Amino acid sequence: MAGNWKMHKTPAETIAFFQKFRLLVENSGHCEIVVCPSFLSLAAAVEAAKGSAIRVGAQNVAWAKEGAFTGEVSGPMIRAAGATHVIVGHSERRQYFGETDETVLKRTRAALESGLSPIVCVGERLEDREKRRTETVLETQFQHGIAGLSGDEFAGIAIAYEPVWAIGTGKTATPEIAAYAHRAIRAQAAAKYGKTAGNSLRILYGGSVKPDNVTSLMAQPEIDGVLVGGASLDPVGFASIVNF
Ligand code: PGA
Repeated sequence: MAGNWKMHKTPAETIAFFQKFRLLVENSGHCEIVVCPSFLSLAAAVEAAKGSAIRVGAQNVAWAKEGAFTGEVSGPMIRAAGATHVIVGHSERRQYFGETDETVLKRTRAALESGLSPIVCVGERLEDREKRRTETVLETQFQHGIAGLSGDEFAGIAIAYEPVWAIGTGKTATPEIAAYAHRAIRAQAAAKYGKTAGNSLRILYGGSVKPDNVTSLMAQPEIDGVLVGGASLDPVGFASIVNF
């Protein structure tokens, strides 16, 4: 169960969140919990989560370890802050910051090389869905991005299916729509990396996940977890998603 805070919460607000949240998920041994704050709040989150099972992740990672890349933050820097995970290729990065399938692949590889667990995002836009191009888009994102990983590298990633039309819009994909897309992604993974790798791949659903729809989403056997944006900002709300 992963929370993507996007561009929200200062270090002080991060500490306040964890003070409440960690008590509410103390007994949530049924799942892994990852909170992804902004780079500047990573260290505060790691410190505030110490002694709990909650892991901390970044929202992006540079494809190089260091160098002349103004504005970027590298895998070793994220690891040094104590984070263990990173979201790669979020649709907001693809939409507003020129992220492509090729750069998603480079960033994913850099994350793995630094010992981070990448959560790689894919998903179709509304116009793709309306033109019945969902599967083609997912396939292109997979083939041009993720499929460049070796089998060993692939074993280290999770994929998040986030239909762009469902992100921050209040329009959740129905559990059936999400499950269908998850099956398509798993089939591509199995075709490229073999059945075992396809079966062990973890696929999270993201897009307007809320306390009141998480149960029906998680009831789908194809959905292994969720990536939560807006609803992860509130400690009580996110805890009730975790403890669905
Ligand atoms: P949302 O965002 O839950 O606010 O729709 C999900 C995401 O972008 O990861």
